[in-house]
Order: sequence, then C-alpha cells, then structure tokens
Amino acid sequence: MTTTENHIAEEYSLAAYANDPDRITDYSVWNDDVTSVIHAVEDSAEAIFTWNYDKGERAQLDKLYEKAKTSQWNGQTDLDWSIDVDPYKTLAPADPLEVQYFAENPESPMHKFNEEEWAEVGVESMNWSLSQFMHGEQGALLCTAKIVETVPWIDAKYYAATQVVDEARHVEVFAQYLDQKLGGVKYPCNTHLGLLLDDIINDSRWDMTYLGMQIMVEGLALAAFGFMHQTTEEPLLKKLLRYVMSDEARHVAFGVISLKEVYQELTVAELRDRQEFAFEAALRMRDRFMRQEMWERFGIDVKEMVRFTLAMPDELRVFQRLLFSKIVPNCKKLGLLDAGDGWLRDRFTDIGVIEFENWVDTADEYADLDEVAKDREAVAG
Ligand SMILES: [Fe+2]
Ligand SMILES: [Fe+2]
Repeated sequence: MTTTENHIAEEYSLAAYANDPDRITDYSVWNDDVTSVIHAVEDSAEAIFTWNYDKGERAQLDKLYEKAKTSQWNGQTDLDWSIDVDPYKTLAPADPLEVQYFAENPESPMHKFNEEEWAEVGVESMNWSLSQFMHGEQGALLCTAKIVETVPWIDAKYYAATQVVDEARHVEVFAQYLDQKLGGVKYPCNTHLGLLLDDIINDSRWDMTYLGMQIMVEGLALAAFGFMHQTTEEPLLKKLLRYVMSDEARHVAFGVISLKEVYQELTVAELRDRQEFAFEAALRMRDRFMRQEMWERFGIDVKEMVRFTLAMPDELRVFQRLLFSKIVPNCKKLGLLDAGDGWLRDRFTDIGVIEFENWVDTADEYADLDEVAKDREAVAG
C-alpha cells in the first residue's frame, strides 16, 4: 500500500469511527453504580515544588491572577435564590426545528410524542444538562488542584489556586440550583464525560491536564453555558450562568497562555500526541451531548436515537456545532490545528466544525466576558 492509500484508509476509518452509533452507545452504558458515592482515580503525576518565587516572570499569567482576585463572587449572596422557578414555564423551550425533525419523521423514536411528553423532554433535558455541567465542574475542581501541584511555574501555581476556588463555587451553585429549583440531581456522570475526566486526571504529563481540562472541557463548557444563557429567560439561571462564564473565560485563557509557551518547544511527534488527545476528547464531548441516559429514562431505544441524531441535517445542528466555537480557534492559536501535516485540521473538518477556526480565541476575549467586574464597577460608580 502506498503512503497516499494509507492516508485515505486512515481518513476513512477515522471518519467512520467518529460517527459509528455502535461505538457511541457501547461506551455509554447506563451507570448502574448509583449507590456508590466515591469514585477513585489513580493520579500518575508528580507534585512539583519550585524554588523560583519571582512573581510576574510570566506577565500574562500574573495579570490573570490579579484579575481573578478582584473578580471573585459569592454564590450565596450575589445570586437571588428567592426567585421561584417553575421548570415547565420558565426554562428554555426545545428548539422548534429540532422538535419538528423528531416529531414529524415517522422513523423517529419520538414520532408519537404528545405535547405533555414534549414538555417532559424539555424539563428532563434541563436537569440532564445541569447535572452534567455540575459533574464536569467537579472534574475541573480536581484538575485545577492537580495543576497547582504539577505546573513548574510559580505564576501558574498562583493562578491555578484561584481557579480551584472558582470551580468549588461552580459545583456549589449548580448543585444548589438542581436541589432547590429542579427537584434534585437525576443523572449520574455521563460515561463519555466520566472516562475523559478519568484519563485527564490519570495522565502523568502536566500539560495534558491543561489540554484536556482548560482547552477542551472548559472550552466546550464556555460555549454550552453561553448557548443556555442566551436561550433561557429564567432570571436566576441566567445570572448564574453569566457569572460562571465570567470565570470560565479566564480559565480557558489560562490554558491558552500556558500551553502556547509549552507547545513552542515540542517536536512534531509530541504535538501529534496532543492532537490525537484533543480529537478523542472532542469526540467524547460531542457524544455525551446525545443524552443517552435521558432517552433510556424515557424508554426510548437509545441506539436508534443516536443514529437519528447523527443523521440530523446540518442546518439543524446549530447547537452541536456551536459547542466547538471556542475549542477550534483556541487549538488554532496553540498551533495544534496545523502541526505536522494538519492532522487535527482534517479531523475537525471530518466532524464539520472547522468553520470556527477564525473566531476570536479566548486569550483575546476573556476580559470582555467578565460580567462580575462590570457589575462591581457599576456599583462603585
Ligand atoms: Fe467551572
Ligand atoms: Fe472552569
């Protein structure tokens, strides 16, 4: 086989692999370990001391650290928990075009759903999404505690310490919203998300924690929070999301600024490792949004639902595509899209998200997204 044939074979199998409903559903078994409260993961990384205490040696990280200290907020006093939430009335309705696609096609598993069942889908989707956000936030809490230990630069250790507090606050407010406004957490951590978090924590290379968490998981979260923030009219959730986004933008910027320095020193082979890790992470996160656990709860054939979701026409996939609107420009800024022979560019083209490559990257926009600082300034006059 020639090199070109090899390349085509690889390209074909990766695209087929990405969209194989069997692979997606096999991974996503319902978590039957619901009675267990503890999940332990081996952390294979070394904890690193540095004896170089020169604050500000990395000026961009120092600036981020100073900003983080003045943009702290308190989930108990900055949000109005007295707001009444009726999940059926105030949460984001399902996208009408998507509803039409699933309701009108006779082969769709939701073809015969009545109005009440559709309302139930809306409420369950919200509980499912916020539950997964909360589990992801705990992943971020553990990952940034790990970064405090493993990163060798003092400016990054200082900044990461502020992010640990941010992530604790995020877990806290999502848990409280689910508990007080949506009848509790109904969904365990999605298998795709959970395995990704385990891999990130397990990896011994400190830059992989950054790539997996700061760039991929948080980049996707920033986009997903933004989408929900735009579509919900519920005032408590809207402000909660906006405040969380203020922090997340800083977190993604932390990843971009740190990795930019590291990746300049890596070989093509080492970068290829990072490209493959990024693509696998992107797939797992796209797959987790197929809401398999939720369809199972509705008694719907999960594989059929995944197959039907994957077959959705491109113009209806606005949300699925927008999830990548932060990840792709940030990967480009890091040089990951085009390293080697552009392997990651080809993969992002395969899954239909390369269109975002020239959108603004988060290192350039985090200050604009800081709503907390704007509110503080308004109060100070
Ligand atoms: Fe967070
Ligand atoms: Fe974060």
